[in-house]
Amino acid sequence: MKLLHIDASIHTTQSISRNLSAATVDRLKRQNPDIEIQYLDLSANPLHHITGRVFAAHAQGADITDLDPAELHDVTESGKVLEEFLASDIVVLGVPFYNFSIPSSLKAWIDRIIVAGKTFSYGANGVVGLAGEKRLIVLIARGGVYSEGSPSAHNEHGETYLKSVFSIIGIDDIEIIVAEGVAISPQARDAALQNALDSIETLAA
Ligand SMILES: Cc1cc2nc3c(=O)[nH]c(=O)nc-3n(C[C@H](O)[C@H](O)[C@H](O)COP(=O)(O)O)c2cc1C
Repeated sequence: MKLLHIDASIHTTQSISRNLSAATVDRLKRQNPDIEIQYLDLSANPLHHITGRVFAAHAQGADITDLDPAELHDVTESGKVLEEFLASDIVVLGVPFYNFSIPSSLKAWIDRIIVAGKTFSYGANGVVGLAGEKRLIVLIARGGVYSEGSPSAHNEHGETYLKSVFSIIGIDDIEIIVAEGVAISPQARDAALQNALDSIETLAA
């Protein structure tokens, strides 16, 4: 069983999404001691914004012979993260909520793994997901409150975006745990964190 653990917060020890993703991996490890873990820190090791030439070489199989060293490196890194994703059975994603959405570093990673012929294909009736066997657990930390029914719910473009984009590749039943309102007060932060940690302890093996 292979687990791909990804973090994207620009913060380190104080990061709530990092704490939650680590607690999730820890729980899964306790339940499956033989689990093989691959870790990717998209803040410490960001991918570039994808360019047309890199996309063509990485995702469209174009034979571009004059890639410069930086482009070549980017194509190699793109292939590496795609292979890591394809090889994983479980993906645990720590996601900080930035400017109503996900961090651009995470978007850059998503741009490498949504690849026709690898994670989805075009069928007669539209897009067919090819990665539906994977389990995806997403841990989100939000400063304010955006849950359904709250006054700011219409500004929530992180969780909803992730549901849409992973659905394209066949992952429809994402397990999502949210700690929100963490910037409101230390008490609200502690309560949201504890609540999320309690939910993590109920995750299936
Ligand atoms: C660049 C940046 C943008 C942010 N934008 C928002 C936002 O739009 N709405 C919000 O409620 N909180 C926002 N926050 C607060 C974060 O959602 C909050 O600090 C959360 O805990 C981040 O996850 P982390 O603790 O794992 O870093 C932002 C924080 C940063 C650093």
